[in-house]
Amino acid sequence: MTDDTARLTELAKRRGFFFQSSEAYGGVAGFYVYGPEGATLKENVQDAWRDRFVRREGHMEIESPNVMPEPVFEASGHLDGFDDMIIECPECGTSHRADHLVEDNTDIEEAESIPIPEVEDIIAEEDLVCPTCGTELAGESVDDFNLMFETNIGPGSSSPGYLRPETAQGMFVEFPRLKEYARGQLPFGVAQVGAAYRNEISPRKGLIRLREFAQAELEHFIDPETDEPPLSQVEDVEVTLYSAAAQADDDGEPTSMTIGDAVAEDVIASDWVAYYLGVAKDWYARIGVDMDRFRYRQHNEGELAHYAADCWDAEAEIGGDWIEITGFAYRGDYDLSKHGEYADEDFTVFKQYDDPITVERATVDPDMSYLGPEFGGDAAAVADALEALAERDRAAFEGDEVTVEVDGDEKTVPVEKTGFGVEEVTESGEHITPHVVEPSFGVDRLVYTVLAHSYREDEVSEEESETDDEDEERTVLSLPPEVAPKTVAVFPLMAKDGLGERAREVADELRAAGFEVAYDESGSIGRRYRRQDEVGTPFCVTVDYDTLEDDTVTVRDRDSTAQARVGIGDLAAQLRALRAG
Ligand code: GAP
Repeated sequence: MTDDTARLTELAKRRGFFFQSSEAYGGVAGFYVYGPEGATLKENVQDAWRDRFVRREGHMEIESPNVMPEPVFEASGHLDGFDDMIIECPECGTSHRADHLVEDNTDIEEAESIPIPEVEDIIAEEDLVCPTCGTELAGESVDDFNLMFETNIGPGSSSPGYLRPETAQGMFVEFPRLKEYARGQLPFGVAQVGAAYRNEISPRKGLIRLREFAQAELEHFIDPETDEPPLSQVEDVEVTLYSAAAQADDDGEPTSMTIGDAVAEDVIASDWVAYYLGVAKDWYARIGVDMDRFRYRQHNEGELAHYAADCWDAEAEIGGDWIEITGFAYRGDYDLSKHGEYADEDFTVFKQYDDPITVERATVDPDMSYLGPEFGGDAAAVADALEALAERDRAAFEGDEVTVEVDGDEKTVPVEKTGFGVEEVTESGEHITPHVVEPSFGVDRLVYTVLAHSYREDEVSEEESETDDEDEERTVLSLPPEVAPKTVAVFPLMAKDGLGERAREVADELRAAGFEVAYDESGSIGRRYRRQDEVGTPFCVTVDYDTLEDDTVTVRDRDSTAQARVGIGDLAAQLRALRAG
């Protein structure tokens, strides 16, 4: 942990942003509590996300359960493929993520995508030791460890379920109903903000790698043939891109370019992904991510999740490390096709042609009742299989007989008995499986990044200093007013002479006007400013003796510490204007 990170963690705990959960029972890694300030900050980040990615884009938001039945994850591929590599120390029994061991102890940076046998070789060759007890790990086996938390739905174990590892599955599984709300018209987007769970082998770095965390995900369902994003809205947005090609090149570096150029030069292959990278860049700046410590990095081939055809991560620099805060994946038709295959529902949409078309369709006789007794009760199933074959492989009917498979058995039928023929039909459209573009934001990592990037220490101004110490320091979270837990703090200069009562009235009026307000009457004004600076409150209002005479108050700006006198009647409007920037 760097000094800055340690100071931020200490501040977060002391001032009620976040801290480890169940500390009274020794704490449990990977689970955190948001305290009073942190819970509001997180809520504000989520609201800002909804505002930009749901309301402004015209998408719909849903809320689906955290527990889902096993077949969902059989279909999605998570049961089989959502694994990390694990190695257990034979001496102390501690489990380690094998790729983290390799990354932390060698020059290799992307060990996540290396196959198990190679990781075992690296561990043996590099003489890696257990970071907990120092035992040599060479020769220890590396296993796959599935990251999903398993549970039972109802009594007994006949109905296994899992805590969702991504909110996304709730949107894919409900697609048949959601498409009805969209009246079957592509494109449309479905969003969800909620908890996701991963049984991480070694949770670390506070909010960065949790076992329970929040995601804000958008699944944008599109017709890849015809739907295009409004790229002109973002083509001038300047982004720093670290492409897979640049990462593979020894001299390769992140490059700054506009979204328009990145699309024209094919650095970003999907226009939809490019559109969301452009939209998100401005949004990150809006919530307080420092754009000098931000970049987009493309996944290398071996790093791509099982569902992704292409993926760019938004990364923020914290304490010298680049942290993934969002994944922008092109998931193609992977998810809807899989659920369509496994579930008994229609995961396609009907795409109407501009004008109906006439096509030739292969037909077979649907009544196979004249087939001999050797077909038993299978005649209808044989007819279905023949019909399907006729549609996709007419040449199979060119010989004397045609063979189809029914329930694992081969059935051979003389061609003249199949009734094979060709008819002309008019079609008004076709069923297509939509493709999915998915911006997936990790809310906790966003919250942590916003805190880390807004944290600074500077000197207290002469006017505000209450000591003789010229180097008196203050800690400030320069959070944008939109996400700061409190917009304004109200202080009486003294708690006596009616100032306390008047200040409480002012605080109440501001609350009624919709502001998040802190009230503080303890300690010197300087100390009260310091407390609000530490939690990022952008404005402080002081009620003093002049207030009782002329109904004005002092408004102090957190970042510049400049003060202005404002009439109480204008206060709410002025604060609203200051908050909007
Ligand atoms: N639906 C796609 C998906 O879940 P992901 O890259 O695995 O993609 C998306 O996760 C985001 O969720 C990440 O960019 C990250 O911000 C956040 N995230 C993933 N695992 C996390 C963890 N263990 N703790 C905190 N945040 C996590």
